[in-house]
Amino acid sequence: MIWATILLECLIILSTCQKVKPDIDIKWFNCSTDNKAFSRFEVCSLNSYRKNQQSFSYYVKMMKTVTHCDTRVEVIYLSAPKPFTLANISFDACELLKGRKRFVAARRLFDIIGKYTNFNHTCPYAHDVFATNITLVTDKLPFPTPHGKYSVKISFYVNGRTNTIVLGLGGRIF
Ligand SMILES: *[C@@H]1O[C@H](CO)[C@@H](O)[C@H](O)[C@H]1NC(C)=O
Ligand SMILES: *[C@@H]1O[C@H](CO)[C@@H](O)[C@H](O)[C@H]1NC(C)=O
Ligand SMILES: *[C@@H]1O[C@H](CO)[C@@H](O)[C@H](O)[C@H]1NC(C)=O
Ligand SMILES: *[C@@H]1O[C@H](CO)[C@@H](O)[C@H](O)[C@H]1NC(C)=O
Repeated sequence: MIWATILLECLIILSTCQKVKPDIDIKWFNCSTDNKAFSRFEVCSLNSYRKNQQSFSYYVKMMKTVTHCDTRVEVIYLSAPKPFTLANISFDACELLKGRKRFVAARRLFDIIGKYTNFNHTCPYAHDVFATNITLVTDKLPFPTPHGKYSVKISFYVNGRTNTIVLGLGGRIF
């Protein structure tokens, strides 16, 4: 009986661990900036950080100071007869970094990537911005994550629309 209980506990622990197991396979990652006098990508890469786990990295060289940064995260679910928008989250990244509580979904996204990036203080930004080996797991995402193919677009409208920086991501959740 005791052994059965221990076995059961082991199984529960194992299945809990399973949740943080990578379940996202990133297929592509790309970056763009429309004002090379403002910013330039020096790194924009997808790598196999660990077996079965894709991570992505970027390094943006900033030639000017960032004082405003409207941000939009658009998630499209592709594995449906008709692809649809699963999430469309807009927020002011400069305000978010001041710790405003109203951007709940944005803050959850930020909690995921926070530890990989130096994009972690309030504006202005007068230095380069980078993120190294970002890995994702679905259980922390602030929207439903049905299995299938996705595309994600993250747009940063810097200082009004002086410079638009876009990160694109495509992959599968299984
Ligand atoms: C990124 O790649 C996707 C898929 O290949 C493509 O649709 C999109 O236009 C690309 N974006 C940029 C900025 O290169
Ligand atoms: C990022 O991943 C690469 C392998 O893809 C590895 O060589 C590098 O050390 C990693 N960097 C950090 C900071 O973990
Ligand atoms: C997200 O919302 C913005 C503003 O309402 C809209 O312009 C954009 O087309 C939406 N994107 C998607 C993929 O639905
Ligand atoms: C922001 O990120 C940088 C680089 O990872 C780190 O050195 C710094 O301590 C972080 N600052 C805060 C306030 O978390």
